[in-house]
Amino acid sequence: MDKLIIEGGSPLFGEALVSGAKNAALPLMAASILSDEPLKLDNIPKLGDLITMGRLLDYMGGKVTLYPQIDGQLHEQAHLDMSSLKLPEAPHELVKTMRASALVLGPLLARHGRARVSLPGGCAIGVRPIDLHLKALSQMGATFDLSQGDVIARAPVGGLKGAKINFETVTVTGTENVMMAAVLAKGRTIISNAAREPEVTDTAKALISMGAKIKGLETDELIIEGTEYLSGANHTVMPDRVEAATLIIACALAGGRCSIVGAPVGALAAVIDKLIDSGVNISILGQTITIESSQEPLKAVNVTTSPYPGFPTDAQAQFMALMTVARGASIITETIFENRFMHVSELRRLGADIALEGRSAVVNGVLKLSAAPLTASDLRASASLILAALVARGQSVVHRVYHLDRGYDRLDEKLRRLGAKIERVKDR
Ligand code: EPZ
Repeated sequence: MDKLIIEGGSPLFGEALVSGAKNAALPLMAASILSDEPLKLDNIPKLGDLITMGRLLDYMGGKVTLYPQIDGQLHEQAHLDMSSLKLPEAPHELVKTMRASALVLGPLLARHGRARVSLPGGCAIGVRPIDLHLKALSQMGATFDLSQGDVIARAPVGGLKGAKINFETVTVTGTENVMMAAVLAKGRTIISNAAREPEVTDTAKALISMGAKIKGLETDELIIEGTEYLSGANHTVMPDRVEAATLIIACALAGGRCSIVGAPVGALAAVIDKLIDSGVNISILGQTITIESSQEPLKAVNVTTSPYPGFPTDAQAQFMALMTVARGASIITETIFENRFMHVSELRRLGADIALEGRSAVVNGVLKLSAAPLTASDLRASASLILAALVARGQSVVHRVYHLDRGYDRLDEKLRRLGAKIERVKDR
């Protein structure tokens, strides 16, 4: 296990390049199951969850090449050939480390008519069931049994049938799972209250390039006409809006002058609006977002997370780190997950003044944070602690950064290149 040693107080200068989106690359890798022809993905980020998804597809019998070395250069590509898939199963030892493994359920049912997928357990941020995925797929004719903690799924003889699906709660991977099941189902599927996250749209675009017929992209109603066969495709993964938000907030906290290059600006509107409201000096040119220190201290602003295009829950912890040193009181309300305040107790160790009231955190800005040993608990909480440590007086240590490495592409290296005093060492 590694830990990060962070000396607070260095302003950041220079450029950071945004990597491909983890939460687009995961469904896209699962989509390779839908065709006998290879799916080639470009601009995939180098991080743990994709290595796990690659391992899972390989376990099923696919031919998976991740991050090929071409003339000594690592290429951020995935070549996925699932024509030799033998075992439509996602075992517990893989699913327990990555809930997004559930994304193979829809494609396996659609392409192979059966699947055995370990039910994802809860995680640090909440119970996170997949009941809505299963309910929607059963409307398409799938049947499910539970055995030893695994969901054993079967499509009806003749294959899945199109259906009218209405999600009572917006679910990102639920929308993606059903969309990937519907592209090979018989007839039309309409998904109402569909997730509109840009990563869902990116997955839909790749499916269309494979021959799928999907309408309503970027809306909350997707209309899918099932087809007999999907071909292979080449697809470039969209940039990661959560990584971009994390880097922007790091620069706003630390001060200096940074440019975040290759950011999905349109997909960041809710975050950029809140940062501007709090007084962060942001300028945008094309896909480059530049943040410059302003003389004025930042103002506290309120944030409530909600499904896209609202403020993303995945940027809530990072934004809270910024609010710990803003002027005034900020009320941050988390509406998506029931336990996504694991970073609060650790931020308090740095001297942050935060009170929890149900699903809200009231953050009273303080003048300065001071360093402390910290323990990461989940992916975005890890990022929040690192950001806060960048401005805490003294030397902080963040333990259990494996949480960070699951979902960020070498974030500490990117921050170091911007001038942050951040060092990765082996934890004993
Ligand atoms: C996706 O998770 C993302 N992961 C999460 O990012 C993100 O936080 C989340 O969407 C919300 O935007 C990937 O895309 C791989 P949901 P997902 O289904 O699909 C409840 C990160 O940090 N729900 O949209 O699992 C659920 O408990 C990760 O990169 C059900 O009750 O989230 C939650 O309260 C963390 N039953 C709410 O809906 C279901 O069947 C939204 O969850 C499905 C979901």
